[in-house]
Amino acid sequence: MSCERQLKGAKITGVGYYVPEKILTNADLEKIVDTSDKWIVERSGIRERHISSDDQAASDLAYEASLKALEKSGVKAEELDQIIVGTATSDMLFPATACLLQNMLGAKKAAAYDLTAACSGFIFGVSIADSMISSGKAEKILVVGVELLSRITDYTDRATCVLFGDGAGAAVIESCSPQEGILSTFIKTDGEYTDLLYLPGGGSRNPLTEESIKKGEQYIHMKGSELFKYAVKAMVQAAREALGSVGLGPEDVDFLIPHQANIRIIQGVRKRLKLKKEQVVINIDRMGNTSTASIPIALGELEESNIIKKGNLVLLVAFGGGLTWGSILFRK
Ligand code: UT7
Repeated sequence: MSCERQLKGAKITGVGYYVPEKILTNADLEKIVDTSDKWIVERSGIRERHISSDDQAASDLAYEASLKALEKSGVKAEELDQIIVGTATSDMLFPATACLLQNMLGAKKAAAYDLTAACSGFIFGVSIADSMISSGKAEKILVVGVELLSRITDYTDRATCVLFGDGAGAAVIESCSPQEGILSTFIKTDGEYTDLLYLPGGGSRNPLTEESIKKGEQYIHMKGSELFKYAVKAMVQAAREALGSVGLGPEDVDFLIPHQANIRIIQGVRKRLKLKKEQVVINIDRMGNTSTASIPIALGELEESNIIKKGNLVLLVAFGGGLTWGSILFRK
């Protein structure tokens, strides 16, 4: 008798996204810091970003995106086995935003937990969901990437405040036959460079005090140009790993959805992978950098556009603080 485990496949069956109504344009930012629309567009590709209202928290954005993803997939919240929320701006340090979301959705059966992998959180979440489903531990998992970066952005620091936006994206992942859906996943971390992108205050190392707040330690600290150097290299590696592990190459890809951190990073990745402009999904001009939410938002927009067809090969590639990076390759 064989005791070999039968691996199942895992498939994204519904994607939803939500961005807050309020839009902050480059012209708005010109009024609050010493910057210009020209600089922001040329250096980052961003024209506007969505900003949450004061009464919205991560669970609220996640809830809106999740409802849409569930509706698209036809899965009921009560059927979910797990909820994984990637975020660095959870409602509170604990309980996990996933627990709050579980209650809001009425997903009584689901084990719910957060993970923090900065901008790569959604990719890490889908990778875990894929493993859980393919090993038979779960059948239906909701993965959410949500970020309210406006809450941890210093709007007196022109080097960071022009970049970030708020939003949420969600995907329902379900079991399927091994030949369908997700073909490969890749996740990677290099903890040597934690100082390139981090939030110094508010954790157990450095709880917020009057003094630390005066120093601005409640805000994102970023060494942008140093981070830039790693971004293109890491994303290209992630793309090649996911493709290479199943014997495919960039020439097989129909759509690349890169993390939306900077248009120049996206172009660098596109050129190294020798992809055409129309193969790369870009929404950074309208969304800014929404960290872990950027890939599921872009995927949601791609699905809505109807240009993606059944059978298309889609590659999701992220890079972020940690440093963390990774990729998901799937057949639509
Ligand atoms: O999502 C996670 C991953 N994130 C990333 O990978 C981000 C990677 N980094 C970047 O996207 C870019 O480094 C930035 C967009 C953050 C910055 O672009 P850059 O071309 O690397 O600019 P820089 O930081 O080297 O700054 C160049 C100049 C500086 O002036 P000096 O020192 O040359 O006089 C800055 O002070 O641009 C100045 N500058 C600005 N000027 C106008 C920085 N921010 C601004 C601004 N408006 N908003």
